[in-house]
Amino acid sequence: MKPQVAILVGRRGRGSNMEALVRAMQAGQVGAEPLRVISTSPDSPALARARDLGVEAIATDDLAGALEGADWLCLAGYLSLLPREVIDKLHGRILNIHPALLPKFGGKGMYGHRVHEAVIAAKEPESGCTVHWVTPVYDEGGIILQARCPVLPDDTHETLAARVLKLEHVAYPEALAKVIRDG
Ligand code: GRF
Repeated sequence: MKPQVAILVGRRGRGSNMEALVRAMQAGQVGAEPLRVISTSPDSPALARARDLGVEAIATDDLAGALEGADWLCLAGYLSLLPREVIDKLHGRILNIHPALLPKFGGKGMYGHRVHEAVIAAKEPESGCTVHWVTPVYDEGGIILQARCPVLPDDTHETLAARVLKLEHVAYPEALAKVIRDG
């Protein structure tokens, strides 16, 4: 059986990275299968999106229980710190994606439009996304893969977010395939 991947989305997660991961797995590009999509909120739009893709989707507060059968865990828009028991259970097999080039523009409170606003305010010539390992500290796990794009002079946080999101949808499945290949 191929390695089983669980995806944890945010409470209000749109689920576009979840969809990119599931589609890449379904297309045989990752060497793994989507096991289930999990949210702590039944209202997360990503859950319906997962069901449309033919993947089991559940809402629960029991994250450790929901990970039964999972070999890997991808966070996709999940903003809280993971419970320690989840990190212990899948240590070294939990990935996250961040919409900037870590180690800059990461850490607590750095999510959504704030990240892109901070990048623009710092007059960075480029931004991008980072797929990294999840450890008990926000955004501090080792980097698996980064993808880069320019920051344009007339960018708003919306235009920059859209450019970065396109990169995310390619980088995340690529990073997952790489770590699964490397074992
Ligand atoms: C993405 O920008 C990702 O980098 C961040 O949360 C956002 C989730 O978007 N961690 P989506 O729900 O995958 O569309």
